[in-house]
Amino acid sequence: MKKITIAIDGFSSTGKSTVAKQLAKHLGYVYVDSGAMYRAVTYFAMQHNYISSEAFDVEALVEKLDDITISFQFNSDKGFAEVYLNGKNIEHDIRTLEVSKFVSKVAAIPEVRYLLVKQQQKMGQDKGVVMDGRDIGTVVFPNAELKIFMTASAQTRAQRRFDELIERGDEVEFDEVLKNVQERDYIDSHREDSPLIKAADATEIDNSHLTREEQFAKVLHIATITIDGL
Ligand code: DC
Repeated sequence: MKKITIAIDGFSSTGKSTVAKQLAKHLGYVYVDSGAMYRAVTYFAMQHNYISSEAFDVEALVEKLDDITISFQFNSDKGFAEVYLNGKNIEHDIRTLEVSKFVSKVAAIPEVRYLLVKQQQKMGQDKGVVMDGRDIGTVVFPNAELKIFMTASAQTRAQRRFDELIERGDEVEFDEVLKNVQERDYIDSHREDSPLIKAADATEIDNSHLTREEQFAKVLHIATITIDGL
């Protein structure tokens, strides 16, 4: 069967990665979490004290970008690929609220985007890939055969992220998570370089009132029609 490229974009915590992972597994495609790559660069910046609540030394980070190697390795127990920074598994470390607080600032730097977009395009060059993010259907793969744009209310998304963080054992307040979701929405969609916008040819899915199963059924249906129609 012909392999296609599937781009899943949308605001934070819209459940993009859940549906992207399900779809990749079902189709036997590679799943790439592009947000994890921006989170990995942010984690690197935090480790080197280039970014904190007080300051952000953009120049120092840009100078060190060559020292960053991001890779993914499939974890068969979890059923998806985990992200590594310079050979170290950082899958757990990049999902904190702290990283979420800084990541939109790091993702707004053109040099960071240039580097990661090139790597993402390479990962998807053979098709058979499901990639989720903010600019996959607009910048990374503008010719993707299937583009999905996921939305949900900020309240719903914050609740999902809050539940995830609590499940991990992190101590967070709901209002803090909601504020972070709203701030990231704003920065991600107002930055100059590759702002989050729906591609003209993307199919929008609002999953505020959909279960995971309903959402997956919907996306799989669209994917099947697209693949069959080729
Ligand atoms: O999908 P996520 O919430 O893990 O993404 C983290 C941040 O990375 C998000 O706030 C914006 C940025 N990002 C981006 O700018 N472009 C992408 N393709 C993916 C993520």
